[in-house]
Amino acid sequence: MAITQAKTTKTFLNQQVANYGLFYTKLHQFHWYVKGHNFFTLHVKFEELYDQTTLILDDIAERLLQIGGEPYATLQEFLEHASLKEKPYTNPLTENEMVQAVIDDLVILRDELNEGIKLTDQEGDSVTNDMLIATKNKLDKEIWFYSSFLGKDPVPQKN
Ligand SMILES: [Fe+2]
Repeated sequence: MAITQAKTTKTFLNQQVANYGLFYTKLHQFHWYVKGHNFFTLHVKFEELYDQTTLILDDIAERLLQIGGEPYATLQEFLEHASLKEKPYTNPLTENEMVQAVIDDLVILRDELNEGIKLTDQEGDSVTNDMLIATKNKLDKEIWFYSSFLGKDPVPQKN
């Protein structure tokens, strides 16, 4: 879901709480089910990414509390409010399909961060702005890493 300028920073941050909460579980699915010649690499990389994701989740939720918001804190709320979508692991994915799925989610998260960076700039919240820029730097790097694994260039950000 695109973030519009009518959204406040609190609403934006809470949507990201839902996103990173969901992404954390999605990455575990791939960490557990990945199979193939790159098992050792991808099993570890997915773990590194969910470890980074839980730190981002915590930072965003705690920033939201600092500015008077109430972060979602249940799996049901994460599912209801996340832009990312999940599905049960009923059809096996190849290693490359898993990596592409991770890139697709990272691009959604990165592009929403970009909207949040503009929003917090407009609202004059320089601390949240700084946090979102730092987070975007991390996601840009992950998009580059995973795209390189597939022999692709990183997806450019929207606008
Ligand atoms: Fe593990």
